[in-house]
Amino acid sequence: MVKNAVMMLTSLFVACLFLTGCDSSKPEPYLSVQIDQDEYDPEKWGKAYPLHYESWLATKDPKPVGKSRYKRGWDTDKVVYDKLSEFPFLGLLYQGWGFGIEYNEPRGHYYAVIDQIEIDPSRVSPGGVCLACKTPFHREMTETHGMDYLTKPYLEAVAMLPEKLQELGPACYDCHLPDPMELTFKKAHLEKALDMIGKTDTSRQELRILACAQCHVTYYVPRDAGMKVAGDVILPWQDGKWGDISIEGIIEDLLSDSSRLEWTQKVTGFKMPFIRHPEFELFSRGSVHFNAGVACADCHMPFTRSGSYKISDHDVTSPLKADLTACAQCHTQSKEWLTDRIFHTQDRTTSLILRAGYSAATCARLFETLHQAKDQGAAVDEAVYTEAKNHYIQAFLRVVFINAENSSGFHNPAEAGRVLGDAIAFSGKSEALLRQLLANAGMDPGLEVALDLGKPLTNRGRANLNFRPEQEFIDPFGIQEKLLSDEARGL
Ligand code: HEC
Ligand code: HEC
Ligand code: HEC
Ligand code: HEC
Repeated sequence: MVKNAVMMLTSLFVACLFLTGCDSSKPEPYLSVQIDQDEYDPEKWGKAYPLHYESWLATKDPKPVGKSRYKRGWDTDKVVYDKLSEFPFLGLLYQGWGFGIEYNEPRGHYYAVIDQIEIDPSRVSPGGVCLACKTPFHREMTETHGMDYLTKPYLEAVAMLPEKLQELGPACYDCHLPDPMELTFKKAHLEKALDMIGKTDTSRQELRILACAQCHVTYYVPRDAGMKVAGDVILPWQDGKWGDISIEGIIEDLLSDSSRLEWTQKVTGFKMPFIRHPEFELFSRGSVHFNAGVACADCHMPFTRSGSYKISDHDVTSPLKADLTACAQCHTQSKEWLTDRIFHTQDRTTSLILRAGYSAATCARLFETLHQAKDQGAAVDEAVYTEAKNHYIQAFLRVVFINAENSSGFHNPAEAGRVLGDAIAFSGKSEALLRQLLANAGMDPGLEVALDLGKPLTNRGRANLNFRPEQEFIDPFGIQEKLLSDEARGL
């Protein structure tokens, strides 16, 4: 495999010589502008690297529409895609906190802080701590102002940042030392997490992954007994190893301490942890590309021509929206073949996400019914109940993990399929136990459980958001509608 990768990289270099005539395109020359160790302002970096600055600024521009099937972020149609409409079961499963109110597909880095300012305020209710994966100032602010900054209401925390750079998202400072040829990472939470998994030295290719893993990882915001923010974000990696941060380990970590339970799921009343954008974790768990030594930057920041110079593309986006030029650095197959391979995986992952999501939603409604029965005095076997609950939480967190991961399975197709298969199995077991408990309580939930998704999806938050049927992902294989009627979905 490694030999293959080396051969591919060598052929990449040779192909590059032929295809683009790299001999004539050269790296951008270093202009003798001094960049300070602590220079946060990209405009200053731009004085030395104008082409990189311009490329970085382009994350502001909408991307070509119609190229990506599942990551329609904010393209030239300028539609913001609502994850709760794409996957309607999320409306029920996430009801109880911000994610169940407004949850959008990502767009370019330029919008990282802006989108937080614009989204429903419930999403940033923890306060300053929400800036961890957004502003380059987070570490300095945390070190200087501690809990005062971390727990400040979100907009007030933003106002504590230097005025000119309050809306600045991922910046040169985050990924580079003043000599930008030296890549780095600055986030304290990643440093601590790498300590946790015993990862000490890092190769250059690993830095091309870790620069992104500063933010494209899952985390929890620790809470005190009163559910108040109790510190900076922490990555739940205590059971992980480099190249092996599994969903099993993440769940074990998250469930090991009540301070990691961040919200209460409305339909079940269960206190729950959560999982956010685990791109690094899924990708690095033995994917073909990770094992072949391929980095995030290889696919999301390919070399591109800028005038007569050749630079790493800093307009980070979906490779599909960049016409898969990144893949062509290593693959000789056609663009059509590569596109087909991506969709092949994503169609299958999405089909399974629907299966796993609706199965978990079915259990959630059964818990709701059982809890009502309990309230009315029905006797419920506690041991069976606990087992049903544990299986349900295992299923739910697996659904969240793959659904929150932003590649729709592409980063690690086999692992994504495995995790979703297990989610379906856990839900199946939980549903069987729940039906048994309900039967014992003299209740019959019917052959099909009414999910009633219309209610949680209607009139959400400050902007009164509603279900947008045109955005929904329909099972590409037509299986889901055979398993669940429209009536049961209740949309
Ligand atoms: C400082 C945190 C941070 C770093 C570092 C970072 N990202 Fe992001 N990334 C984000 C956030 C936040 C968003 C979503 C922004 C939004 O939707 O407003 C995002 C969005 C994206 C998107 C979606 C863009 C689109 O057009 O829809 C891609 C792709 C991406 N990042 C890849 C990467 C890669 C690859 C790296 C490393 C080279 C990286 N990111 C480094 C925080 C970061
Ligand atoms: C082998 C190529 C490859 C590698 C390596 C790779 N990605 Fe991706 N990534 C993709 C593809 C393909 C997609 C799917 C894009 C789509 O569906 O439009 C994607 C999607 C994404 C998205 C969502 C993009 C969007 O428009 O919303 C993010 C964020 C992302 N990747 C981050 C990362 C990070 C972080 C890493 C490293 C930990 C990484 N990727 C490694 C190919 C790659
Ligand atoms: C999310 C991380 C990230 C951000 C933000 C970022 N870069 Fe980079 N940059 C990279 C990566 C990855 C490379 C490839 C470096 C390598 O392979 O060693 C790179 C390479 C470079 C290079 C070396 C030449 C080249 O094109 O490969 C320069 C110069 C550079 N960046 C300048 C900048 C400037 C200026 C900014 C801000 C305007 C910036 N970068 C923002 C990740 C980032
Ligand atoms: C830096 C080099 C590199 C880049 C960039 C790259 N790949 Fe790959 N890709 C590889 C290597 C190496 C393998 C493993 C080949 C092998 O061992 O046979 C591979 C394997 C694959 C496979 C087969 C995977 C499997 O599960 O067997 C697919 C599909 C694929 N790549 C698609 C893509 C797409 C799509 C992109 C762009 C988004 C891309 N690759 C970018 C190097 C790369």
